[in-house]
Amino acid sequence: MKNITGRIVNRFFGRFQHRIGIANTRRLAKAYNRIRYRREIREVVDGYENRYDELFKGNEAEYAGTPRNRLKDGWAIDRSGAFPGLESSLAEADRLIEERGGQNRCGTALAQQDYLYHLSGIDELDQFPRLLDFATSSEVVATVAEYMGMIPTIAMNLPTGIRVFESTEQFSERTTYNASQLWHRDIHDFPMVYAIVLVRDATEQTGPWTFLPASVSERATRDLKYQGWRQPYRVTDERMYEHIDSSERIPFTGKRGDVLFLDSSRCFHYGSRHAVDPGYRIMYAYTTRARSDFQMMLHRQEFPKQEGDSALRRMVLGQ
Ligand SMILES: [Fe+2]
Repeated sequence: MKNITGRIVNRFFGRFQHRIGIANTRRLAKAYNRIRYRREIREVVDGYENRYDELFKGNEAEYAGTPRNRLKDGWAIDRSGAFPGLESSLAEADRLIEERGGQNRCGTALAQQDYLYHLSGIDELDQFPRLLDFATSSEVVATVAEYMGMIPTIAMNLPTGIRVFESTEQFSERTTYNASQLWHRDIHDFPMVYAIVLVRDATEQTGPWTFLPASVSERATRDLKYQGWRQPYRVTDERMYEHIDSSERIPFTGKRGDVLFLDSSRCFHYGSRHAVDPGYRIMYAYTTRARSDFQMMLHRQEFPKQEGDSALRRMVLGQ
């Protein structure tokens, strides 16, 4: 019954969202989820406000007590390479690239687009468990938690919470930009934060993730009437650069181990353009417990449990 209602609700909003207005639909979903998941929300807010040391130091005794990175204007980049769990998560991604990278995935379930492949499935995390090391480390969770004012969860529905991506032009003809190559703001929640880890050095030739700071995005949103009634979800460069200067965009290039934290619901972004050389990154998506869509009516992702998992880790994994 729950599933049938979920399917009807999601189909309805999927079909009529741009007519109702994306912003209106999101507010409605958020209000519903705040009631539906009020107990979980109370727990993660209380965890952040009243049990901080117990949770964060309980997860990692060496944690300094405050996060090193703070999102300013919707984003932060850390190029120190000094995250607990970073090396083991990168090693796991290396293994995936070795096994699955550099192959034509067009037409398979792993191809999000002909130029963008997932090298990992969310249901195979038990085969690649160390991808969770970075995502559940106190330093990383603390940056997201401070921004959200609560302990976040790795997305339990869309966008897929943990993915190793390959952007490559090797197996497809270049066409006009489409789908995730066009400007958009994510709609599944607000706030929502991506932690994006470069697995290989990224240049303008590897289809880097590219974004606009939150303040620039707000200006563009207002001028474009973005997410308003009958407004399209994707925005072309032509339309975007009528309102902002193209020099305001920031491509996330850099070296292996660099990390971008970004609120993808506030910051316009695109990726995988001009991936002449293959680009590899891990994308970790964090949401609140009261999302701004109705996807939880359909599916709640289960993450692998391990003996001795800390209370913080269990919370971040929605357990
Ligand atoms: Fe997106």
